[in-house]
Amino acid sequence: MKTLRIKSKIWIAITFISFITIMVGVILTYYLYEKFYLEKQIERLEQQGNLLKKYYSSPIDHQKLNEMIHWTEESTNVHVILTEDPMQLSAGIPITGFPDSNLITFKERQQLLSGKEVIIIRNHPTFKQKILAVAVPLFKNKLLSGAIFIYQPIDDIYEPFKPLRTFMIIFIVVILFLLIWVGHKITNYLLKPLKEMENVSRKMATGDFSRQIIVQNEDEIGQLAISLNTMAKSLNDVEIKRNQFLQNVSHELRTPLSYVKGYTEAILEGVYKDPKEINHSLSVIQKETERLIRLVHDLLDLAQLEDDSYPMKKNPIVYSQLITDVVNNYELAFKNKQIHVNLDLDEDIIIEGDEDRLTQVLSNLIYNALNYSYNGKEILIKLSQNENQTFLKIQDYGQGIPKADIPHIFERFYRVDKARTRNKGGSGLGLSICSQIIKKHSGEIQVQSEEGNGTEFTIVIPCFIETE
Ligand SMILES: Nc1ncnc2c1ncn2[C@@H]1O[C@H](COP(=O)(O)OP(=O)(O)OP(=O)(O)O)[C@@H](O)[C@H]1O
Ligand SMILES: [Mg+2]
Repeated sequence: MKTLRIKSKIWIAITFISFITIMVGVILTYYLYEKFYLEKQIERLEQQGNLLKKYYSSPIDHQKLNEMIHWTEESTNVHVILTEDPMQLSAGIPITGFPDSNLITFKERQQLLSGKEVIIIRNHPTFKQKILAVAVPLFKNKLLSGAIFIYQPIDDIYEPFKPLRTFMIIFIVVILFLLIWVGHKITNYLLKPLKEMENVSRKMATGDFSRQIIVQNEDEIGQLAISLNTMAKSLNDVEIKRNQFLQNVSHELRTPLSYVKGYTEAILEGVYKDPKEINHSLSVIQKETERLIRLVHDLLDLAQLEDDSYPMKKNPIVYSQLITDVVNNYELAFKNKQIHVNLDLDEDIIIEGDEDRLTQVLSNLIYNALNYSYNGKEILIKLSQNENQTFLKIQDYGQGIPKADIPHIFERFYRVDKARTRNKGGSGLGLSICSQIIKKHSGEIQVQSEEGNGTEFTIVIPCFIETE
């Protein structure tokens, strides 16, 4: 079955409700009016009947009564029949002028006999139409001697309703048109933002996040629009970051590749004659190749670390041992820069972690400290703990990081000194990798730095708690 559009649903609801309302309204008005009007008519007929009855009971001659009857018929739209033979009323004997049937039924006659007026509303065989009639009994010497039968065809009574009916039909048509118009406005007003949202989300599906929905008010639809706008914005941000990342990657790859290409071509074309020159070129090629390998390796690492399902091989580790091992690896490099490493390590501290991954973190942080430190300075490495957390501080007295750059240093490819000589050069992936790894150890990396005075990185990770 085809699903109805919201517009159709709203329309059906509006039409249904208005139809019912109009119908009930019209029927109720019409019915009440009619009932009231009919009652008035009956009252009038009764009054006229009773007036005529007076002439019958007073001893004025018959002529006067006939005149009055004539006058009544002339001046109003009622018909009057006077019969003075009560037997003829319903005894089955034809009445003069109405040979085929009786004016009243047996039951009605009984009522007349008891002196009461009779109200008749029915299809009368004598007049072959529906009539409203009042029969007033006439008595002579306490005996029913006749009746005044005043009647009016129902059609005549309803005559004044005819213009009313036309008016009502026109009224309903006008109201219906009005409803269609208002309904159209309302549905458009309600559906416009939805339609717009549909368009915008279609655009989003094709990767265009530039369009924002204009939020007209703060109702549920407005809220939806706001959420959609927020979603579009964050998707857009993701998209921008992704593009930036790709640009960075290709840039980082291109530079060493062009070096490799340039030097190789030069050697092949015999540009360098001196074996020393050739050797130098080859060592550049080697260095750039290593750089490429490291870059690809780091990128792969990041990709894996950012995947939530990538596991850490966690084991209890003596933290101080891990730190000493990494520092020892860089011993020669420290010596070359005349940097003294000051170790202050709590040897009781045990953590649970992935040894290789944590070595990677320490290597990068310690190498950064070494790399961005001035010659002949000191590097302080301090390990401590409280009840549930361990703190490893790595402090150098080097160039520091400008305040504005601090929030960005954990971003991929972010380097403070973008135009740094290639010799010094990392790719800016180290800290991103570190922060991902520490995150996977339920910890965090804090940084404090002052430009020109040095930098302090602190790794906070939970203590190892033995569970028996
Ligand atoms: N101890 C530090 N002192 C001063 N600046 C630092 C320090 N550590 C990091 N930085 C700044 O933060 C940037 C990002 O560091 P990160 O380790 O991520 O990248 P990198 O060292 O440049 O390259 P990679 O580590 O990938 O070889 C560095 O380029 C440097 O500008
Ligand atoms: Mg680094």
